[in-house]
Amino acid sequence: MRENAKPIADVLVQEVAKGRNDSNTEAVRSADLLSYTAEEGVRFFSESKLLTSDAFPGQDRTKICLTAKVPLGVVLCIPPFNYPVNLAVSKIGPALMAGNSVVLKPPTQGSVAGLLMVQCFHAAGVPPGVINVVTGRGSEIGDYLTTHLGVNCISFTGGDTGIDICKKAGMVPIQMELGGKDAAIVCEDADLDLAATHIVKGGFSYSGQRCTAVKIVLAMESVADALVAKVAAGVAKLSVGMPEDNAAITPVISASSADFIEGLVKDAQAKGATLVNGPYRREGNLIWPLLIDNITPDMRLAWEEPFGPVVPVMRVPSVDAAVAHVNGNRLALQGCVFTKDIDQAIAISDAMETGTVQINSAPARGPDHFPFQGFRDSGIGSQGVQNSLALMTKVKTTVLNLPKASYQMG
Ligand code: G3H
Repeated sequence: MRENAKPIADVLVQEVAKGRNDSNTEAVRSADLLSYTAEEGVRFFSESKLLTSDAFPGQDRTKICLTAKVPLGVVLCIPPFNYPVNLAVSKIGPALMAGNSVVLKPPTQGSVAGLLMVQCFHAAGVPPGVINVVTGRGSEIGDYLTTHLGVNCISFTGGDTGIDICKKAGMVPIQMELGGKDAAIVCEDADLDLAATHIVKGGFSYSGQRCTAVKIVLAMESVADALVAKVAAGVAKLSVGMPEDNAAITPVISASSADFIEGLVKDAQAKGATLVNGPYRREGNLIWPLLIDNITPDMRLAWEEPFGPVVPVMRVPSVDAAVAHVNGNRLALQGCVFTKDIDQAIAISDAMETGTVQINSAPARGPDHFPFQGFRDSGIGSQGVQNSLALMTKVKTTVLNLPKASYQMG
């Protein structure tokens, strides 16, 4: 992976229009994650337990429980277009270290990068048949793969399709990372420069096409004017263009995605929202970055994720109102809070019913070995190397029953 970082990054630039620097980062980050997973995997020991008479009075200490963590069999890995390499290796790595074989269904846009990545595994010595790739559209082959009786585990990252997969998959362990409506709550005492920097980076990197992108800013009314001015200044500096030129904002993945984003913007505009960096501008799949202020709960942008370069701002009277908005959304992946008061930060984190809350930083999955999970419609199961290893194994117990007389330990 390290040796092939450049060709992989070149393909990512061309195939999913990810900026050159971010494409390089994805390739290198993936190699790092595999190294970490390999190290973590060898420490994934089995264990043994003794029946002790202290814990169970009256019973003889004649039982020894040997517990092994054994592979499930075949893990079906389905990564999304926005990280066709990194979110593939985050599934493949733990699956292999746990002793499974893999069927990879790369995203339609991202298949070439996925194939190149799998070639690295083969070049590194993974035997034939251990990692298998099936390319094709999810609409055509998805059901066949996810309901196949030879599949023993499904690890999926994507959109609401994951909810359908869960309903159909049956009795196999499942790991789902689905959409998010990641909120940035900006409190009255926040460092507004810090918050604005993170909102711009978190909202607009890879043109907002990240499940962890900042997808709504919930600003206390007293600081909203100042915050919006600072974020707008940051947005104005974002370059717009092609990924080969390493532009910050590049074309979104498809015309239908651009149409969807446009629909959200038009809806908000028609209902009275303010296009701070307006007017709305689109050429093909390229959408200029937009900060949209004065979002109200009747607007789709209050609830839906644009997955594009659009960040809505809702002005709220209190922290309680902000938290209530977060908890009222069916999506609950991550969120973040900006405040200088650590007690308040922890209290807000506890109150936010999302898989992760970042304090004084934008939402993010990484570092890649951290636990990562969504609540409600944002997912099921937890990622991160240790959690994935646990999901991709099953516990097998053997109990040795010893003749009482021969057992002298303790
Ligand atoms: O798009 C979903 C990814 O899990 C987000 O990962 O926070 O590293 O961009 P990231």
